[in-house]
Amino acid sequence: MTSEVGVRAARAVDGDRLWERHEQLRAIGALGATGVSREAFTQEDFEARGLVCSWAAERGFPVHVDGIGNLFIRRPGQEDALAPIVTGSHLDTQPAAGAFDGAFGVLAAFEALEALDGASVPTRRPVEVAIWANEEGSRFQPTTMGSAVYVGALSLEEALASTDSAGISVRQALRQQDLSPLPPGRREFGVPFAAYVEAHIEQGPILERVDVPIGAVTAIQGLRWFTIRVTGQAAHAGTTPMGARRDAVAASVAMIHELSRAMTDTEDRVRFTVGRFEVSPNSPNTIPSTVVFTVDFRHPDASALARLGDQVAPICMANTCGCTVSVSETMNAAPTILDAAITETIRDTARALALDCVDIVSGATHDAKQMALACPTGMIFIPCREGISHSVLEHAERHQMLAGARVLTGAVATLASDPAGPGPLPPSSPPLQGRSKDTDDQDY
Ligand code: HGY
Ligand code: MN
Ligand code: MN
Repeated sequence: MTSEVGVRAARAVDGDRLWERHEQLRAIGALGATGVSREAFTQEDFEARGLVCSWAAERGFPVHVDGIGNLFIRRPGQEDALAPIVTGSHLDTQPAAGAFDGAFGVLAAFEALEALDGASVPTRRPVEVAIWANEEGSRFQPTTMGSAVYVGALSLEEALASTDSAGISVRQALRQQDLSPLPPGRREFGVPFAAYVEAHIEQGPILERVDVPIGAVTAIQGLRWFTIRVTGQAAHAGTTPMGARRDAVAASVAMIHELSRAMTDTEDRVRFTVGRFEVSPNSPNTIPSTVVFTVDFRHPDASALARLGDQVAPICMANTCGCTVSVSETMNAAPTILDAAITETIRDTARALALDCVDIVSGATHDAKQMALACPTGMIFIPCREGISHSVLEHAERHQMLAGARVLTGAVATLASDPAGPGPLPPSSPPLQGRSKDTDDQDY
């Protein structure tokens, strides 16, 4: 049930301030008229994090950072030793991205802290904004890296050792981070949260299609990521007979063709993408010696994710065309069911604010997927134009951002004030991931 403080705080959300901050943030790494490029641990990413930390300094909110670069901005609670209610998202982006993926969730979360101050709402529990490091996983794999390390789903060492296509490691990139003038405090991994709520654009077409301003996310589909390295033999394009070649591109094309045939279903629920395809030596008149390509495979049903995902390696092995191939799986995350009570608080808050709300399953992954391993977790979606995301054409309207920020603020205020509120999952609790409950036949 949404508390009176929840509604009061929600009404204190300032839409002009939210949009003005969005414009400030979008200017960092701006790409053309509407896009941004702030890949993880680049100067643009650090500059964006520094900007939000400067807002925190103006408000006197302490900032902490952990060993993988996750940032935590804290508004103290009356019983400050209690586990906090946490909200947030990410500021890193795809290489040619929109200005809303991740950024909206961070802006709405920070606005919630300011609205609580503005409405003079003391909360029982502290409330924190988390800015997760490297959610996108485009420069350094895997995706949701920072939040995965935080909950223990990925080791710090493995994350720090991840390298980008120039051979720079996360460890080396992080050393460039300078969060001055704010010397943040250190935060250990795994400090328990009472609950986590993330606001995000839907990145799909459903909310716009049904013309509903708020999505209460009930589940996040599963995903499996693979990196496939095909090794052939460089040779002269003009003199080498076709039968004598070990052509890494010819082999990769054969693999991808067979993978595409396997990764189909009649209900169009499979999501199969080869997003990266790197050829070397990448010369028009040299037979390619090496290809590295990626597979991003997703499905809402755990058994389909297992059955189809397990075919990736065998199909690659069966189509080497005389080359050698290595297949490494960099992520295997089963579908996640989000917390029913948190989702009900989100629905109640939307109702209290006279905003239509519909349940929705997330086709995109989020840091909330990792957080669901550690505490009761929920997500709030707002529409984005034509469902376009991971593109400079991504767009959300001011009034849509305001509605989402109000529901987030109301839900967080309610959870942080509730004496019988949620608490961290016991350490031994089975991870929510892996439940085979099919996240119904939602198409996204
Ligand atoms: O890939 C995803 O689903 C997220 O947007 N990074
Ligand atoms: Mn995102
Ligand atoms: Mn994204």
